[in-house]
Amino acid sequence: MPPYRAPRGTRDLLPETRAGLSRLEGLARSLAARYGYREMEIPLFEQTAVFERGIGETTDVIEKELFRLAPRSEDSEAWALRPEATAGVVRAYVQHGMQTWPQPVKLTVVGPMFRYDRPQAGRYRQFWQWDVEVMGDPGPGVDAEVIELGWRFYLEAGVPEVQVLVNSIGDSACRPAYLATLKAYFARHEAELPELERRRLEMNPLRLLDSKDPAMAVLIAAAPMISECLCEACEAHFASVRAHLDAVGVPYRIEPTLVRGLDYYARTAFEYYRRGAEGQQQALGGGGRYDGLIELLGGRPTPGIGFALGLDRVLLALEEAGAEAGREAPPLALVAGADPADTVSRLRVASLLRAEGLSVRAELAHRKLGRQLETASKEHAHFAVIIGDELAEGNVQLKDLEAGTQRLVPLADLARELARAAKSHHHG
Ligand code: HAM
Repeated sequence: MPPYRAPRGTRDLLPETRAGLSRLEGLARSLAARYGYREMEIPLFEQTAVFERGIGETTDVIEKELFRLAPRSEDSEAWALRPEATAGVVRAYVQHGMQTWPQPVKLTVVGPMFRYDRPQAGRYRQFWQWDVEVMGDPGPGVDAEVIELGWRFYLEAGVPEVQVLVNSIGDSACRPAYLATLKAYFARHEAELPELERRRLEMNPLRLLDSKDPAMAVLIAAAPMISECLCEACEAHFASVRAHLDAVGVPYRIEPTLVRGLDYYARTAFEYYRRGAEGQQQALGGGGRYDGLIELLGGRPTPGIGFALGLDRVLLALEEAGAEAGREAPPLALVAGADPADTVSRLRVASLLRAEGLSVRAELAHRKLGRQLETASKEHAHFAVIIGDELAEGNVQLKDLEAGTQRLVPLADLARELARAAKSHHHG
């Protein structure tokens, strides 16, 4: 047993997995750019109040899962690791006066998030999200554009059969009356409620619809649904979101129990699942409209909408589907030498080639040439540069490991020759 391990719920991304994640990050960035988003960074931690106010104090994310940082002294500010990006991006929007920029402001963040969750498959304490946020557009067209963007990501990433679930959860005009109806319904069934849900009934009755407790399934199925209580404006907004989704050909299903786990949502809410895996634990991504959040964090009333896609879960889904998540590029060439002790020449030649932008590996161990070349084929290098007595005349051997051919090349031409050979390898 090694004495130290990665903390529970975190994982080291070994090179192969890292390459898969890099591919997804690259796709996310290129799609974001295609859709007019600008990338930004926010700190990995914020004042705890940003999350508590923004996400809602009675949500699981804040109550149970927030990674609070131990204060350094009694009077220092309370900080927590970011459990998601939306609250931080909105905090930045307000702080930097982005309401004076041309609206809408479209921002994207890619990076790790932290939730002190019970670790299990697809549920980590450090995980990666691709997040997009649009602030300053009340929709409904942009709602569909955002939903379509997430759907396209899965399509282009190669995740098969992604199901889009959408719902409207009303706004400040119609939700209070619905919440009262919902609360009254569950109160009538209070005796049947598990302990945790009974406590939620007082604080946050909407969360009961999101319960993972199997004992709740029957009660939830018979509960009054927000779709029956939407005001006219929310009803019209939702109908138009659907019409826009139809127009761009995104297949979706209306899911009346979809309420999301964060408090800032209003109107449009959506999630992405693998078809047949629509259990609450396994959402590939989710998002929605948050028209009150910017004001809540000190800005002018401004509408907003966005999503976050869980990249770890996308990697898992690709793995399950047997798709190759990503590939590390092998070195183009290995620099080997006939004299095991002459590491100086090998390092010098490797350094020359790297300065020309080529990816090479230098054999710097004192091993026989045969052993050095074995490594080259194990690493899938295309070429071996072999340094021998010819170096005295300024030449080296260039061996094509795939074709099995070998020729003498002047050191001065080596970088150009390799670059040209690499190109022809690439194209055929
Ligand atoms: P969320 O639904 O809390 O939304 O998280 C979005 C996605 O992040 C989930 O669907 C899941 O794929 C992934 N995820 C969440 N927790 C974990 C975990 N412990 N391990 C692995 N993956 C996880 C948000 O975060 C909102 N900020 C989305 C948003 C943006 N809404 C508006 N704008």
